Amino acid sequence: MQAEYRQRRQQLMAKLGNGTAIFRSAPMAVMHNDVEYTFRQDSDFFYLTGFNEPEAVAVLAPHHQEHQFVLFVQPKERDKEVWTGYRCGVEKAKEIFGADEAYPIAEMDEKLPQYLEKADRIYYHLGRDRAFNETILKHWQRLMATYPKRGTGPIAIEDSGPILHAMRQVKSPAELELMRKAAAISVEAHNQAREIAAPGRYEYEVQAEMERIFRLQGGMGPAYPSIVASGSNACVLHYIENNRQMQDNELLLIDAGCAYGYYNADITRTFPVGGKFTPEQKALYEIVLEAQLQAIAQVQPGNPYNQFHDTAVRVITEGLVELGIIKGEVDKLIEEEKYKPFYMHRTGHWLGLDVHDVGVYQHGESPQILQPGQVLTVEPGLYIVPDTKPGEDQPEIDPRWSGIGIRIEDDVLVTSTGHEVLTAGVPKLVEELKD
Ligand code: GLY
Ligand code: MN
Ligand code: MN
Repeated sequence: MQAEYRQRRQQLMAKLGNGTAIFRSAPMAVMHNDVEYTFRQDSDFFYLTGFNEPEAVAVLAPHHQEHQFVLFVQPKERDKEVWTGYRCGVEKAKEIFGADEAYPIAEMDEKLPQYLEKADRIYYHLGRDRAFNETILKHWQRLMATYPKRGTGPIAIEDSGPILHAMRQVKSPAELELMRKAAAISVEAHNQAREIAAPGRYEYEVQAEMERIFRLQGGMGPAYPSIVASGSNACVLHYIENNRQMQDNELLLIDAGCAYGYYNADITRTFPVGGKFTPEQKALYEIVLEAQLQAIAQVQPGNPYNQFHDTAVRVITEGLVELGIIKGEVDKLIEEEKYKPFYMHRTGHWLGLDVHDVGVYQHGESPQILQPGQVLTVEPGLYIVPDTKPGEDQPEIDPRWSGIGIRIEDDVLVTSTGHEVLTAGVPKLVEELKD
């Protein structure tokens, strides 16, 4: 894997020209008092280094004579490590992570200028770590103050995101292997969830069983807070309380995925808790399923990114008209977004090191064109949120639809010939979900 991190750095450096890029490790987040959340490395930092510790800075200086890749890290300190765990340390940062030079993080202010003074710009993402932003700005100001004497130095700070995130958007075979593993564990968890869900059981029982599988199979844990939403809870898009007792004749919406080796899966399934769809549930479910199948069919190299969303919107709008939930001419309803009270989110997002992964969807007016190696979710839904007020020209909502929430979500890889559904192992056809 170190060879791949090196290759990524070289690929990025080839695009930096005479710039120097600086990456900051993720900050530690406080859970409460002096207890912190489990550390998770910043995804950009991890993508370029594989280095998994806090309080670190990575510098890429392609124009530097000796050191193109420099790491600032926490030094080895026995008394600290006994509390907070093993540190790689300065020496090993070179040996294990391939840094041309490594320094203790405390020396950053002193050592950093040599990597900046001949650069024509600094590539840096002004992030959430305000104190660190200030540090970088301070270095920049100092270099600009002495610029007239040297006639060289960084005259701009540029966000590294657009360059780096275009790279992250296209997954390598090694990344895909991790994504397949994350998907496979999540598939197993969803299939087990369907086995144990039953009237009388609590949503958290299903959550616990799924998250048990995530860890048991070597995953890092949930990729995002698991959503286990029965009945009308399914109409709350980010419902995470998961504390309700499930009832017969209800649907259960589960949106849960595992993180494995820093890569994420993101799957949603909706099925009847008691193994039987009511006619209303089935009618809405079939619309969402058809929208999802047709949307997935649009995931092809060369297709514009928005096409699969537009396809889902059309199927959903047509379905709502057919059921009499909205009325009017389909094209006009789409144009006026009359589907939105029932389908208020987009049909997908990039997936990778981040669940809502980096990378643009749109270049100004032109959509991104799908290309092999990209991974995205396809996740249409329908939510008849109780108390929805239809527009003036729309019918009142028949109470028999009220409180039904459905989403179906798969993770789809764009291949050179079409696509591959990485999460196809979880059933979603109506006949597969019934008793
Ligand atoms: N689970 C988050 C999402 O579906 O985007
Ligand atoms: Mn999801
Ligand atoms: Mn998603």
